[in-house]
Amino acid sequence: MKKRSALIIIFTLIVGLSGLSSKTFAETAKNNYRLYCSQCHGLTGNGEGIDKPTMGVAPKIHNNAEEMIKLKDADIYTVTAQGGASVTKSALMPPWEGVMSEAEIKDMVKYLRELCNCTEK
Ligand code: HEC
Repeated sequence: MKKRSALIIIFTLIVGLSGLSSKTFAETAKNNYRLYCSQCHGLTGNGEGIDKPTMGVAPKIHNNAEEMIKLKDADIYTVTAQGGASVTKSALMPPWEGVMSEAEIKDMVKYLRELCNCTEK
């Protein structure tokens, strides 16, 4: 009897946890974008975040296909994880590894591709 209720608890936990992780990537990436990127890059990725006027360098316009097409997915990953300085861009673009997991950064790359409605060349 005890064993059975332990099994039920474990089963419930597994179902609960897989429910959490089955959140679609877009939902999580969109939330992360709002949380971590929008103040500079704008909520819609138009580069018009509230912090933009305080910066000497314009944040990348993520919904601009012409611009975003020039970046490889791997470049987007690197600059998001390690920050602008790591790719000889402005250090105003912060590094996000440690804030977001590797999986979340990968999902962020996909989300930016949705924003620009473009793929790498
Ligand atoms: C504090 C402001 C700020 C925040 C927050 C920010 N960025 Fe940036 N980002 C910038 C600036 C400024 C640039 C332009 C750097 C340059 O051109 O030298 C930039 C550039 C970029 C680029 C283009 C890099 C390139 O090689 O041209 C990508 C991709 C990017 N950011 C992604 C993100 C993502 C994803 C987030 C959120 C996880 C984010 N940024 C959060 C300021 C910010």
